[in-house]
Formats: sequence, structure tokens, C-alpha cells
Amino acid sequence: TRILVLHGINLDMFGKRDPATYGSATLAEIDERLRALGRELDVDVTCFHSNIEGVLCERIHQAFRDAVDAVVINAGAWTHYSIGIRDALAILKAPVVEVHMSNVHAREEFRHRSVFAEIVRGQICGFGIDSYLLGLRAAASAARQA
Ligand code: DQA
Repeated sequence: TRILVLHGINLDMFGKRDPATYGSATLAEIDERLRALGRELDVDVTCFHSNIEGVLCERIHQAFRDAVDAVVINAGAWTHYSIGIRDALAILKAPVVEVHMSNVHAREEFRHRSVFAEIVRGQICGFGIDSYLLGLRAAASAARQA
């Protein structure tokens, strides 16, 4: 079972960026936790980050060609407005799990809307790193049911 974890815009600044909202873990630490959980769940975890929308879209196209079994995505602010990333995700046959570190619904109104909502299998937000870890568990389970 191969699961691709995608991180979008500004998420490489986790650890430096607003620790009250996002905690102190760096993206490298988050990826390490995800790979460790992947070993525990016996799934193959690949992590990828870009601050460039087109690069993330091309990585999603690659995931389609590779026929990965599931995708976990935290697209950062792109969540709220990128139809380009939504359309790329919609190409995938595999289940997509959307995650956010913060509880986006308890924040500014512009964060309440996810343009991915209609096309993802489900969403997890508000649990910090655990949002990613729960997302990976959900993705592994969804992939196995597929
Ligand atoms: C985020 C929430 C987004 O609204 C924000 O733009 C981010 C991070 C989160 O993980 O809580 O960059 O996706």
C-alpha cells in the first residue's frame, strides 16, 4: 500500500510560523512521525512539499500515473482557493484525505471553506500533528477497503 502525503504552501515554515496555532514541530519532524507510523501500519509513505502550485499539481499527476493507493494532503492556504489543485486531486481514483493542523472552523471565515471538500473522502482538522497521523490511518484504512 503506497500513500503519498502532500504539503502545500508555507508548510515548510512549520516550527517557525505562529507556534500558538501550529505548534513547534518542523515539517521534517512531521514527515518522520508519518514514516514511523507508516512502518507500524505496514504502508509505504512518501512525503512531498512545494510552495509552487504547479509543482504540487504535477506531483498529483505523477501520483495518478503511479496509481498510488491513497493521498493525504494539507494544502495550507491553497485549500481555500485553488481550483487548480482541486481539479488535479479530482483526477485521482485513489481516496484523498484532507488534513489541517489547526481547527480551521474556529479561525477566520476565509478558512472555513475548503474548495476540496466535495471531492475528498474526508477531512481532519484541529489536532496538530495528530491530524496528519489520524489522516494517515484513515488513508491506510480507505486504501485497504478500495
Ligand atoms: C492550515 C490551515 C490553513 O488555513 C493555513 O493557510 C495553513 C495551514 C493548517 O494546517 O492548519 O497554511 O492548512
